[in-house]
Amino acid sequence: MKRNRIAAIDVGTTKVCTIMADTDGDDNIRIIGVGVAPSSGLQKGMVVNVNEAKDSIYRSVRAAERTAGYKLESAYIGVTGRHIHSVNSRGAIAITRNDQVVRPEDMRRVLDVARSVKFPNEQKMLHVIPRTYAVDGQEGVKNPVGMHGFRLDVETHIITTAITSVQNLTKCIRSVGVEVADLIMEPLASGEAVLSNEEKLGGVMLADIGGGTTDIAVFKDNTICHTSVLPVAGYQVTRDISIGLGLSYELAEEMKRKYGSVVPGMEEDTDSERTLSHDGHSVSYRELSQIIGVRIEELIRLILLELPNADYSRMIPAGLVLTGGGANLPGIAELAEQVTKLPVRVGYPVQLYGVSDALHDPAYATSVGLLLWKMRNKGSEGWQIRENGLRRFVSRLMKLFAK
Ligand SMILES: Nc1ncnc2c1ncn2[C@@H]1O[C@H](COP(=O)(O)OP(=O)(O)OP(=O)(O)O)[C@@H](O)[C@H]1O
Ligand SMILES: [Mg+2]
Repeated sequence: MKRNRIAAIDVGTTKVCTIMADTDGDDNIRIIGVGVAPSSGLQKGMVVNVNEAKDSIYRSVRAAERTAGYKLESAYIGVTGRHIHSVNSRGAIAITRNDQVVRPEDMRRVLDVARSVKFPNEQKMLHVIPRTYAVDGQEGVKNPVGMHGFRLDVETHIITTAITSVQNLTKCIRSVGVEVADLIMEPLASGEAVLSNEEKLGGVMLADIGGGTTDIAVFKDNTICHTSVLPVAGYQVTRDISIGLGLSYELAEEMKRKYGSVVPGMEEDTDSERTLSHDGHSVSYRELSQIIGVRIEELIRLILLELPNADYSRMIPAGLVLTGGGANLPGIAELAEQVTKLPVRVGYPVQLYGVSDALHDPAYATSVGLLLWKMRNKGSEGWQIRENGLRRFVSRLMKLFAK
């Protein structure tokens, strides 16, 4: 069977991860190459220094190419940052043909109506995700093609992004010789990698705690109903440790990763009064854990405030799933359970076939999810479809003028 090559680049605030894979067109993805490089030139998920970001992306892409043994042509790219906004929008059309059967072109027409919402000029649509359809008022239809009716309604989740942020990111990607196959909002990707269908059906909140941002997505009735991005994540935890214990940022980061926990004495066999020594510096384990615990507790409260409905147990009975590198802190799920009174678990990305061992860490939820999102959401419109449409329109216009 012919297999197609696919790839994803997750340009994070702390690391850039490139995954090269092939697929038979379904969910069967085989990882062929992985390249991870430390990231620079990014702040809170956005490019702030093009040359530095380019360099990190270059190193990650070349490392993945070396394992895969072929050149990376194009890739799905993750987008995050405070500039991303989302809204739920409805659209309705009449089916006026004699047979009154819904056809694929009606689905496109109704999506056109739903996405004609007004948003600021500096924003551009990133995703138009059909959540559910209704035919003649009959709600909850997943695929109306072939159904009879006079009226077709759609409910969509629309995600928009700042044009300049995306331009900076795509410029970096193209400058290392890689085409942008599509842009995908990062929490959607992470959701694909760590959530089960049962969780998405019942109602669940996902928080990807990265270095610069915490990306949030809420799913209910198997569809996305809310997405947002908080500019608080692992960076703030490390900065608090650095200030609180008088360490350099780099040493505070090492201490956090090596010994960090959210509650002193989380593990039975650890002495909460012990002193930790590293690189000639000594810090108290209790103090380190207390600083981390306070910041993480505050972050959990901020995450919960993003929920569009205050009736948590009804809205998200499956609770909260924490992922991203920040979810590696021991005791984080237990602390979040105490704060939210909801079930909480740490989400690891689904294990994919191939050279994927290094990816079984919450930090790679977005990277793995970028590959899965495109396989599983063929109905949703991406950035590239519209960009290509615009390019075709501009080139037609230019030909017309040339004549
Ligand atoms: N074992 C660990 N213990 C504690 N914290 C960790 C651990 N591993 C990673 N982290 C933290 O996770 C954060 C990085 O997470 P991740 O790799 O998901 O971020 P990113 O994708 O680069 O950034 P972003 O998504 O915000 O752009 C850092 O703040 C890092 O300190
Ligand atoms: Mg990330």
